[in-house]
Amino acid sequence: MKLRLPLAAVLLGLASPQVLAAGPAPLAAQGCLGCHGPEGAGAGAVPALAGRDAGELRALLHAFRAGERPATIMDRIARGYSEAELAAMAAHFAGQR
Ligand code: HEC
Repeated sequence: MKLRLPLAAVLLGLASPQVLAAGPAPLAAQGCLGCHGPEGAGAGAVPALAGRDAGELRALLHAFRAGERPATIMDRIARGYSEAELAAMAAHFAGQR
């Protein structure tokens, strides 16, 4: 079958060390992109996450989760993730341009 080799190459490419090294963040972060735009670049009134300080993003997410920061939706969203996931997502978005 002619298709098999190119397909295998694509699959191997997806499992490259660079992608794996990024850890679980990109997977969890997929759920943020619908509102925060591609790679978290911001979309309309929804603030950008990309390239911001990881500690700041983490603090914002904690404040949402604790109900200490006014929110329309992020308070509920932030409660759906573990501490490790929030930290991983903050690091992920901080690394985006
Ligand atoms: C349903 C749309 C939606 C989704 C999904 C969503 N967000 Fe948000 N996000 C918002 C809105 C709207 C705000 C502004 C605060 C509010 O109204 O809740 C916001 C604000 C934020 C802020 C604060 C930014 C600032 O400068 O004040 C952070 C950090 C954030 N979101 C992170 C995330 C992360 C991480 C995810 C994925 C787990 C995510 N958001 C998923 C809509 C969304």
